[in-house]
Amino acid sequence: PVLVVDFGAQYAQLIARRVREANVYSEIVPSSMPVADILAKDPAAIVLSGGPSSVYEEGAPQVDPALFEAGVPVLGICYGFQAMALALGGEVAHTGLREYGGTKVAVTAQESTLLHGTPADQSVWMSHGDAVHNAPPGFSVLAESSGAPVAAFENPEKKFYGVQWHPEVKHSTFGQKVLTNFLHTGAGLPGDWTTGNVIEEQVARIRAEVGDAKVICALSGGVDSAVAAALVQRAVGDQLTCVFVDHGLLRSGEAEQVEQDFVASTGVKLKVVDAVERFATALAGVSDPETKRKIIGREFIRVFEDAARELVEEAQESGGGDVEFLVQGTLYPDVVESGGGTGTANIKSHHNVGGLPDDLQFKLVEPLRTLFKDEVRAVGAELGLPEEIVQRQPFPGPGLAIRIIGEVTKERLDTLRQADAIVRAELTAAGLDREIWQCPVVLLADVRSVGVQGDGRTYGHPIVLRPVSSEDAMTADWTRVPYELLAKISTRITNEVAEVNRVVLDVTSKPPGTIEWE
Ligand code: XMP
Repeated sequence: PVLVVDFGAQYAQLIARRVREANVYSEIVPSSMPVADILAKDPAAIVLSGGPSSVYEEGAPQVDPALFEAGVPVLGICYGFQAMALALGGEVAHTGLREYGGTKVAVTAQESTLLHGTPADQSVWMSHGDAVHNAPPGFSVLAESSGAPVAAFENPEKKFYGVQWHPEVKHSTFGQKVLTNFLHTGAGLPGDWTTGNVIEEQVARIRAEVGDAKVICALSGGVDSAVAAALVQRAVGDQLTCVFVDHGLLRSGEAEQVEQDFVASTGVKLKVVDAVERFATALAGVSDPETKRKIIGREFIRVFEDAARELVEEAQESGGGDVEFLVQGTLYPDVVESGGGTGTANIKSHHNVGGLPDDLQFKLVEPLRTLFKDEVRAVGAELGLPEEIVQRQPFPGPGLAIRIIGEVTKERLDTLRQADAIVRAELTAAGLDREIWQCPVVLLADVRSVGVQGDGRTYGHPIVLRPVSSEDAMTADWTRVPYELLAKISTRITNEVAEVNRVVLDVTSKPPGTIEWE
């Protein structure tokens, strides 16, 4: 793989994604990893990421010069560029001229490997206080900006390259070109890593891992569990049984999508557990958000546990392989965040198993643990999953229960489901599904307001629209949905959904507001 050495901040994952967009497989390693361990992974190339430190700060992560003696191509970015310059005998100084945000750089070299095919003047994204003043011996300087006398350099003979700016962010107009120049030309990597390869590789790995044993998987209706299940099904067929707990808190049509469309497109063996009554009873009289979440989590585990136990017993009676494995849709960001992908810490994914009792111990199959979300969608599409599942926007595990402000009842769920279906249909028809990260529709069940409909006074509930735009749900802004569309949605909801006589728009960013209301 190409190894992205993570010097902190949030850049490493983005770099790893961009490298993969250039069809080269990449993994992230922490900057604390000793060079010997890094080299033991047999990297095809190394990218040193940006980071928040100054190279001169006490305790700032450094690059061990031994890294440059292994003959591996290296690209330094921002902090990684400066650390590289320092390690190879260049000079880094406090300029006092901070550059932050969109910046112009001038390409000063006539010809180069790294900046080949990019214009003489280009907009890039900078974020630095220090700057490289002198390139290390043997390097040619390729570009400059007002705050960075050496903004890019290269030593093609040794296959060492560096840029002060962040080629991984979209604001750097030719950023992806710089990365592909490094990967394809500078490091000579072919760029043959594709979604198809991922499927083949994972299928082979799952077969080897699982052997004749049986496997179970909990389907939530979301993308990750669906794609993970489809991959395992591709690998071991009927050895897999999926369990779908219908808790009655999904949106209109979603249970059917799992029970019919998913099964039809994958041929997966599905066990549906109708737990609608059970969840309704457990939630009766509860309006506190945290209590709702805890009840739903607890009930889900119990229902899944029962289903799993039945499957284990059936398998034992039938005399085939035992149920030994549980599929988890763990993604690469979880793996990185819980231990830097070093293969040691696996804390988070075990947490995801969510407290199954000791006598139900499964080994985990995690076919998505090397993938980012957009890659998971691509794999799902290639496996033939329906668009509605593959492109599904995030939806919280506790479902509609945390979008009813107040007690959850069947009537309220029906009301919310109708309003939500209208909103989804209209946003989709307007082509806004990609622009909008998700649009929670919230029923203020404990609030009433006076209205007038058909000459009569009404005393109904408001529906809140919460359209947000986001990159990763950590921060979000409210989406500026066109007024005409809002008007249409409002009219339809108040006309078509009894009980609702008012539609309001949430215009709060995150922070301070969270995306969901509870
Ligand atoms: P908040 O409301 O914290 O939501 O801004 C951030 C993102 O997480 C989703 N969300 C959940 N997803 N289980 C989930 O699987 C949950 O309990 C849960 N709560 C919130 C939310 O929809 C948004 O995408």
